[in-house]
Amino acid sequence: MERCSGFVKVIAVMAISLAIGLVLDVRDTSDMFIGFPYPELWRKAGLAGAPARAAACILAGVSLLALGWLYRLIFAPLELLRTADEVGYIAEDGRSRAQVANEVRRRRKTGELPPVYPNGWYRVLDSHTLERGDVKNVTLLGEQVAVFRSEDGTAYVVDAYCPHLGANLAVGGRVVGGCIECPFHGWQFRGKDGKCVKIPYADKVPEFAKVRCWPSREVNGLVLVWFHCDGAEPSWTVPEQVEITRGEWVYRGRTEHFINAHIEEIPENAADIAHLAHLHTPGIVSGVDLRYTNSKTWEFVRHDWKVDWKPEPEPNLHCSEMLVKHALTVFGRRWPLLDLDVVARQVGPGLVFLLFDHSFLGRGLIMHCVTPVEPLLQCVSHTIFYQNSIPPLVPKFILRAECIQFERDVMIWNNKTYISRPMLVKEDSSIQRHRRWFSQFYSENSPRLRYQHDSLDW
Ligand code: FES
Ligand SMILES: [Fe+2]
Repeated sequence: MERCSGFVKVIAVMAISLAIGLVLDVRDTSDMFIGFPYPELWRKAGLAGAPARAAACILAGVSLLALGWLYRLIFAPLELLRTADEVGYIAEDGRSRAQVANEVRRRRKTGELPPVYPNGWYRVLDSHTLERGDVKNVTLLGEQVAVFRSEDGTAYVVDAYCPHLGANLAVGGRVVGGCIECPFHGWQFRGKDGKCVKIPYADKVPEFAKVRCWPSREVNGLVLVWFHCDGAEPSWTVPEQVEITRGEWVYRGRTEHFINAHIEEIPENAADIAHLAHLHTPGIVSGVDLRYTNSKTWEFVRHDWKVDWKPEPEPNLHCSEMLVKHALTVFGRRWPLLDLDVVARQVGPGLVFLLFDHSFLGRGLIMHCVTPVEPLLQCVSHTIFYQNSIPPLVPKFILRAECIQFERDVMIWNNKTYISRPMLVKEDSSIQRHRRWFSQFYSENSPRLRYQHDSLDW
């Protein structure tokens, strides 16, 4: 990567030099510009040098822009961060997408929802976005947290509100060693256990002075926190993908979406086998707007899916597996080179490991993470790590294609209601099995959404 970036810089410098050279050459009364004689008329009008210099500058500028664009396309990681109303809403009747999104959110019938925050591990942010000494404010599970990286490189997650007088530690707070210092009166809290270790104007730090510290760990390029409604310790760990730790698989991009739905709707998609043949069969070229995905123009490209979903046995009851066989057909002809087998392993309520292993396209992992921000707002990220030796364009294409298919689901999720007793046929049986499996992440005290307005009070 470093070497490629150097190469592009050399090309850019050469382009600039060439442009400057041309300008100077022109100024030096040359009769020719890039092999063409100046029109006699320009010479007489005294413009001989000016148009040439302008053309050379434009040429240099355009070359630089083109090189920058080419570099980003080929080498830079794909970063696609969508806002909450950017995807999955239809702007119609003179209303903007944002207006439609607000109306849909206000009017939606939520249905009889399960608890809103299941127990488990959740992604807070991607590791590479948190440098040493950085502090970030994140909203998750209805709480404000401050995430910071200490000077020794460890990431910590603590409640954002300072217990002294309530300032937000992540807004103006700074990292001091392994502590975070509050921007209001300078109290310092240790990331390891939340204990206050310094009050700049007090002789003594009382024992009770501490901020709540969230159990956290960093694995597979993600900072994760453990949530349990009763404060219970983690009952399982997140598996490490050793290829990432060893640096054999490297970061190639990420996407982020905010989805207006209950968290369970998203993993349930894996067990909803019938929707694949309907929603995800049109080729990715037909886009994400469900009004047009079945258009005749693109029907010559099709994705075919064969899927099986099953929970894992002891000791991994908190895991389940979706086995996907994907085939691409163009004008009815299958392209076996692009057949792709994917194992999507769900680990708890908020993490899915999508593992790719292809003889020609290489190996890699998409970490698909769902973190509730609020009861009906989920932050969903896809972060891709891929074999170092495979050109970055390959994983970037895979992530982009996955993103298109995913955004079709987003349009469904953003506008649907949750049906607790769905009308299922025999072929939908894995949906019920998935609901039974997922219910293990709720316990008696799991928070529920109150004040639902699902019926009119006459
Ligand atoms: S509010 Fe944080 S130190 Fe006073
Ligand atoms: Fe889907």
